[in-house]
Amino acid sequence: MASESSKPPHAEAKSGPQSEGGAAWRRRHLLALGDLDAAEIRALLHESKRFLPDQGDRSGQEDDLLGAAVATLFFEDSTRTRGSFTLAARRLGAHVVDLSGGSTSVSKGETLIDTARTVEAFGVDAIVVRAAQSGAARLIADHVACSVINAGDGAHEHPTQGLLDALALAEALELLDTFDFSGRNIAIVGDVNNSRVARSALAAFTRLGAHVGLVGPPAMVSRDFESLGATIHRDFDDILPKADAVMMLRIQFERGSSAGSLDQQKALWRLTSQRVDRMKSGAFVMHPGPMNRDIEIDPRVADGERSLALRQVRAGVAVRSAVLGSCIRAARASRD
Ligand code: CP
Repeated sequence: MASESSKPPHAEAKSGPQSEGGAAWRRRHLLALGDLDAAEIRALLHESKRFLPDQGDRSGQEDDLLGAAVATLFFEDSTRTRGSFTLAARRLGAHVVDLSGGSTSVSKGETLIDTARTVEAFGVDAIVVRAAQSGAARLIADHVACSVINAGDGAHEHPTQGLLDALALAEALELLDTFDFSGRNIAIVGDVNNSRVARSALAAFTRLGAHVGLVGPPAMVSRDFESLGATIHRDFDDILPKADAVMMLRIQFERGSSAGSLDQQKALWRLTSQRVDRMKSGAFVMHPGPMNRDIEIDPRVADGERSLALRQVRAGVAVRSAVLGSCIRAARASRD
């Protein structure tokens, strides 16, 4: 099992949920999928499967976190991630303290570490954090004893997004028994350099056996990703017939993304109905949201029958239920 960097003395638990592959989840934090091996990712996905509305065996799970407390500490806007963590925690019986950047004392000059240690002193079992700075979640994890779950840190990682992408696509491709994506081709298209979603999806899908192609111009897709197991493609139309799933990314204008004029970007990198017609039958379209309709994806494609966008959102609630439960149980077991 891969080791956590900067591991505190009680990071390893004595027990955790067993995956169908037999591996136990023993980490109290979830900071990056790049830290995990395939067995750990499968352990979380098998646990997540139990929370899917029409798949799950949730008996005994509803009060899994009865009396626990979870703080959501978001310094960037969020609809899907914050909402689904909150719903997941409440469904498991936990109390939720919801804090966001504009409403915390960070705006008065308090450091991120002091804020996190203050929130921990409330007695919370887990801090779910989103921040603009890459490494923010790991920094907090190094200074608190409770669980820390990364809800997106800069352009680094968004691990629960990578897990929900894998869960939603496994459900669509009928791979829920094994989460084995061997022989599958997944194309991630667009603003990869700025995308924490792409980094987490790349880590998840490559560890689960898929081949991942990253597609875009040099300004948006660096050759550095080859060292993480991806192949790089500059021609969108060339990869379409080979892909089992095409994941479109939002162009992050707020992070200064640009690869020519908007019209040029739309002509070269937008997923249109004509491009979808070139995909093989049974292939799916994914988008993590929020999407810019008519920029990176045609609205007819976003709402079309191949689109998994809302199934990804639904999978997010299941994944966040599993991650909260697994990390908090591991933290408690390590203290016993
Ligand atoms: N995909 C995602 O992280 O969406 P939110 O920013 O709405 O949480």
